Amino acid sequence: GKVAVLMGGSSAEREVSLRSGQAVLNALSEQGVDAFAFDPAERNLFDLKSLHTDRAFIALHGRGGEDGTIQGALEFLGLPYTGSGVLGSALAMDKVRCKELFKARNLSTADFLVVEQGAHFDVEQIIAQFGAVMVKPAHEGSSIGMAKADTAAQLNQAINDAFRFDDTVMLEKWITGREFTVTVIAGIAQPIVEMVTPRGFYDYEAKYQANSTQYFCPADLTSDQTDYLQQLAQQAFKLVGASGWGRVDAMQDKDGQFYLLEVNTVPGMTEKSLVPMAVKANGINFNQLVINILEQTL
Ligand code: DAL
Ligand code: MG
Repeated sequence: GKVAVLMGGSSAEREVSLRSGQAVLNALSEQGVDAFAFDPAERNLFDLKSLHTDRAFIALHGRGGEDGTIQGALEFLGLPYTGSGVLGSALAMDKVRCKELFKARNLSTADFLVVEQGAHFDVEQIIAQFGAVMVKPAHEGSSIGMAKADTAAQLNQAINDAFRFDDTVMLEKWITGREFTVTVIAGIAQPIVEMVTPRGFYDYEAKYQANSTQYFCPADLTSDQTDYLQQLAQQAFKLVGASGWGRVDAMQDKDGQFYLLEVNTVPGMTEKSLVPMAVKANGINFNQLVINILEQTL
């Protein structure tokens, strides 16, 4: 049947989604699947019916595409789609609720605070409590709107910058250490990737532009550490109700303790992205990966 590759959209991650979608579309076409690009920012989603679509491959990142909205519309249209359903998508897009779930289940994650647009916050007190802080819009991806703050003045600036993207901003205790990501396919953790950047953290530029980012897969961890982190990722994935495929980001501090950051239900799928890198270490190429993900809609 015909597969609509949903790509583009109107979130801040539109450009990344166009790259992911194009890579997915190429992989499907190369393998003889009848697939076409569909950008919900340019066309009414309900046109999918008149286009005789049988299934949708969701390559939309961020709000409107990764947060349960499109998933709900596709349910309404009766069209099978890739990845997580409405609830898993909505929860994973919400960094605050994700972390509240992790805490409730005693899954390791860094301490955090939430500030809402218009509400009072005391930057001096927050810096005194946390030391350095990672500031994150609560519902963004690709590190958009994120910044590290070491001082009260930086924190004030970073919070105000983050409010340009979101009415809810999460302040997470800064962790000095290593950054990892764990791909989960059909509930099973894949080889771990470590990202190393000379920048302060794995930000938008380190992800998509810088040549200085290094990737190690499988990550240089002991087998006990690998098992632990893969288990943690699988638990987090399941806890938020994610399904099909996704990626769980985590850190490790200087003492060796791991901390969950978040779950991504539509991770980047460019040829250089982390999910393709992880499955490649298991002998699965990009074309096979795309088919695997698509087949889980059946
Ligand atoms: N939000 C980006 C696309 C990722 O998680 O890969
Ligand atoms: Mg994310």
